[in-house]
Amino acid sequence: MTFPVPAERPRRLRATPAMRRLVRETSVDPAQLVLPMFIHEAIDAPRPLSSLPGVVQHTLESLALAVDEAAHAGLGGVMLFAVPAERDPEGSAAVDPDGILQRAIRTAREAAAGRLVIMSDVCLDEFTSHGHCGVLDADGRVDNDATVAIYARMAVEQARAGADVLGLSGMMDGQVAAVRAALDEAGFADVGVLAYAAKYASAFYGPFREAVDSQLTGDRATYQMDPANGREGLREAHLDAAEGADLVMVKPGLPYLDVLAAVAQESLVPVAAYHVSGEYSQIEAAAERGWIDRRAAHLEAVTALRRAGADIVLTYAALDVAAWVRS
Ligand code: PBG
Repeated sequence: MTFPVPAERPRRLRATPAMRRLVRETSVDPAQLVLPMFIHEAIDAPRPLSSLPGVVQHTLESLALAVDEAAHAGLGGVMLFAVPAERDPEGSAAVDPDGILQRAIRTAREAAAGRLVIMSDVCLDEFTSHGHCGVLDADGRVDNDATVAIYARMAVEQARAGADVLGLSGMMDGQVAAVRAALDEAGFADVGVLAYAAKYASAFYGPFREAVDSQLTGDRATYQMDPANGREGLREAHLDAAEGADLVMVKPGLPYLDVLAAVAQESLVPVAAYHVSGEYSQIEAAAERGWIDRRAAHLEAVTALRRAGADIVLTYAALDVAAWVRS
């Protein structure tokens, strides 16, 4: 029997590396990558994290060197998370002008010297003795409005320390508007807000909890989103933009490409995606066993997030990805 000759031959555009390069729709530029970094107040040498191969908890000294390295690699920014030596139910170290996160911001700012954007985390989970992202009310529930008032104070301290963009990751209602108002009132109109708008209560944050010595028992389901809900992610992104977010984020990344694509389609502000700790560690663990190609997997992950609509990607592999896309 004779088969019909294909009327169209898409393979023509895949025939050579040069042709594939010519028609490639999505690119990855180091400037679009943000490296999350951890700083621990109570260590005197960088400490590797067993569940996040290649990632360490920094001292202030090693942070300065690593920020310089990130700037040399052409990264767009760094996102700072800090672990204090002491915790209490209110997370007081978070609002201390000389707290570890504020010191880390000052160190990073000096090391970066304007070459990349300094972002820092506005959330209480690293600072509270119970590990929740907010303070608790008399019944042990996370108190939204009391927490937002603390975020506003944290934000001003971080701005004073020199952060360019504040990452609001706590998922409290009204947090963006409150932080924006506090920043403006304190004279920090130029400090931006990156809203973790659609942040899901995800199992993929597992290794991050080691990175911040998380004290959490239980879960964050009363404030982070239900992984089953897509439309609600769009609602959160709209609310945060309306409250004044300069950038909105979807998190985790690959399991939520549908949400990312929907947000990216409608958003009037740039959209970020966070390839979170568990997503990173899955690749690392499989690559260690020789089950997948580490470089190809990380590049595919970042490319997929970009293709779905992310303008900016947060990834623990940012330094390697930057080197790979340049070579
Ligand atoms: C909360 C926060 C978390 C992450 C970023 N910010 C943890 C959580 O919500 O439990 C997770 C990031 C990752 O897994 O890489 N401040």
